[in-house]
Amino acid sequence: MTEKSVAIVRSRVALQQQVRAWKAAGETVGFVPTMGALHAGHISLVEKAKEFASRVVVSIFVNPAQFAPGEDFDTYPRREDEDLALLKAAACDAVYLPTVAEMYPDGSVTDVRVNGMSDLLDGIYRPHFFYGVATVVARLFLHAQPDVAVFGEKDYQQLQIIRRMVRDLGFPVEIIGGDTKRDGDGLAQSSRNLYLSAEERRTAGALFAALHRASVRLSRGAIPSEVLDEARAFVLTAGFKSVDYIALVDPGTLQALPADSPLPAGTAARLLGAAWLGRTRLIDNVSVTL
Ligand code: PAF
Repeated sequence: MTEKSVAIVRSRVALQQQVRAWKAAGETVGFVPTMGALHAGHISLVEKAKEFASRVVVSIFVNPAQFAPGEDFDTYPRREDEDLALLKAAACDAVYLPTVAEMYPDGSVTDVRVNGMSDLLDGIYRPHFFYGVATVVARLFLHAQPDVAVFGEKDYQQLQIIRRMVRDLGFPVEIIGGDTKRDGDGLAQSSRNLYLSAEERRTAGALFAALHRASVRLSRGAIPSEVLDEARAFVLTAGFKSVDYIALVDPGTLQALPADSPLPAGTAARLLGAAWLGRTRLIDNVSVTL
């Protein structure tokens, strides 16, 4: 059996031509935007995109607009050869590898801001972050013109913000959420897990363990404020340096849910957390069934 070839595309115009040709031939296009350093979680998003479209494009672009000064833009893992090998094995059709100048042409001053939702939770700790994400994803959508795009539920706030942007701006693309891939101890797969020392890696599963335990307690009628306090204490006791937040929110709006009495049956709820393990910030989230 011959291995399928993957088109490597570096310019917006070439990508648009390729996508136009596919669509003229009656094909549909699924899109998975990434920042590279791919792992099994990303590949599962490619597999998901294949369920919804006949062609799949993956972009790899470490987006400077979503990093603040002092964050890890310079050290963010870049592994183009390994990424391309994984994408070839996953039989994706094209990989888009734009330069910064391709994404942000000289003199570019246009941003996309999903107000409100971008300023909650992670947005409090990384105020620039979701503006950078929305801006680059809007640009990537215009370059790739996908019919569907798949984003991991691991970055739950990002997923909801992109859904909102697509709704508000009328992008003709369906947004699909992909399940979080986890290691054996529950740690959500993330490119930033590469930063963890061996000792930190042994501790890292505690964030998921805390969220999972909290979710079970909430579904059994525990009082949210107590459950959230316990979850924070659990993560700190396990060895995390600090907790930015562990929050119980409405899954659609991301607004905090009332915390002083048990949640009524049928309430839609999601638990999100962010915590520092040494110099690495981990985020995770779980659904709550009530
Ligand atoms: O989730 C990511 O990897 C990035 O935030 C994204 C969506 C590719 C935008 O740069």
